[in-house]
Amino acid sequence: MATLTIDGKSCSFDGQKMILQVALENGVEIPHYCYHEGLSIVASCRICLAEVAAPNPRNKNTIELIPKLMPTCQTMATDGMEVYIKSPKSLANQKAVMEYLLINHPIDCPVCDQAGECSLQDYSYKYGRSTSRFEDDKIKQPKKDIGLNVLLYSDRCIMCSRCVRFTREVSGTSEIGIFGRGNQEQIDVFPGNPLDNELSANVIDLCPVGALLDKDFLFEQRVWYLTETPSIDGITASGDNISIHHNEGQIYRIKPRTNMQVNKWWISDEIRYGWKFVHSDDRLRSPARQQYNVQVECGWDRAYGDARDGLQKVVNEKGPGSLALMVSPMLSCEEAYLLASFLRGLDQQALLAVGPVPIEGQDKTFPGGYTVYSEKCPNSRGVRSTLDNFDGQVLDYQALLDQLNDKQSNIGGVVLTGNYPAAWPSNDLVKAVNKRFLLMIDTLANSLSARADVLLPGATWAEKSGTFENANNLLQSFDQAINVIEQAKNEGQIALDLAAACGLADKQIYEPKSVRQQMGGVFAGRVQYPARAEPSETDLQYVEL
Ligand code: SF4
Ligand code: FES
Repeated sequence: MATLTIDGKSCSFDGQKMILQVALENGVEIPHYCYHEGLSIVASCRICLAEVAAPNPRNKNTIELIPKLMPTCQTMATDGMEVYIKSPKSLANQKAVMEYLLINHPIDCPVCDQAGECSLQDYSYKYGRSTSRFEDDKIKQPKKDIGLNVLLYSDRCIMCSRCVRFTREVSGTSEIGIFGRGNQEQIDVFPGNPLDNELSANVIDLCPVGALLDKDFLFEQRVWYLTETPSIDGITASGDNISIHHNEGQIYRIKPRTNMQVNKWWISDEIRYGWKFVHSDDRLRSPARQQYNVQVECGWDRAYGDARDGLQKVVNEKGPGSLALMVSPMLSCEEAYLLASFLRGLDQQALLAVGPVPIEGQDKTFPGGYTVYSEKCPNSRGVRSTLDNFDGQVLDYQALLDQLNDKQSNIGGVVLTGNYPAAWPSNDLVKAVNKRFLLMIDTLANSLSARADVLLPGATWAEKSGTFENANNLLQSFDQAINVIEQAKNEGQIALDLAAACGLADKQIYEPKSVRQQMGGVFAGRVQYPARAEPSETDLQYVEL
């Protein structure tokens, strides 16, 4: 393994890498704007320049100082190299670059959404001057609406061209370009061609300053109030690694979490903005039961009691095989396991089925390698493989409908789970359930929830933890970001409570980790857990006002 030193610190590396890449991999900070691991290298911002001494092959590999500053993002690292980021010449360059970048910058941090996570702000604090020497009028650039999700505040732009390269190299749509030259240079979209592709909002994350802003997040929260919880895409089969940013039980935004095996640095707009149903007015907030053919809200104990009575009555009257469970592919593997265990505890031959798997169009892979999946649910494979561990055949949704519609069918009670981000029961299902006893566990009100004999409000993926298996059979766990709304409960807890209400087990608190152990070592051993972020450090002392 080769090594180089950066300000005396030894950094080891493999293969062909740039100095900046080696530094980042070894936890050494070199300021940079235009460099991004997922994009081509242009070396245009010049803040990463440093003094470099390298072995000279023409002089018996003696270490010699290269006479000019070298862009560390574009200079290949070689064994024995010495890099000086904090030498007087390097520091002078960093200060000069910062001064030039701030000449026309409005310095409107108090009203900028990027404040608190802005490289310009951070580097200004670390490498900049405390006062400006510029006395002329600043050039004012316009604010523009450049696409469905993105606003451009041109006068904050530092022309790093990351957004331009993203649309050329990753989305392949090339909507963004650099227009004008010199001090008139600015970022813009081509006339009549707004930034409107499935990956468009990634440019917001890429922009190192507050020039590209998220319309959906605009002025919603100061970023330092937000808590980040590592999670997994709960909308599609991608398994994309995400962070849910939330404050006081309210989600404000979703950002990608880097995972080179899955989504690299990106997520689709669908995943980024797909969380809105979590706070929908249509969320089911309380259990309900039928009273004189009218559905009325009730407490959990009453609802569990009615569910127990209804299901046991069916089994007593019709015998084994008279119950059916449909596990939604929106639920986690642990929940599928607990729900199936509960129903099989009541009826050893209960039918097990996977709920409808929504498919929209076809998978679409972009030039940068990112794929938008047509399967719009996170865990159809995980639910199926979990149910496969129980005796008997696992039905798909159509086969379940066929069984329910079969005139010879012995099924007298149905347990349905939903948790889809939109109303989902088809007319076929409503008809198929017909006059059977219906226990429904769902998150949004819909045509079938209004007819359920017992209705239990479930939790969205952001309100619980568990495991999803993505389209490539990768099992990944996710954490609970926010508390469950009002009286709702996660489906794993509901399954445990129902088992306790039916006398099948003692009362227990849902704990995904212990459920994974129950599901078997092979399953638990395959699960990938999110890397824990280092707690952030601050130089500023907290002052109580
Ligand atoms: S808008 Fe942001 S990402 Fe695009 S060139 Fe300007 S600073 Fe860079
Ligand atoms: S990061 Fe090296 S020149 Fe911009």
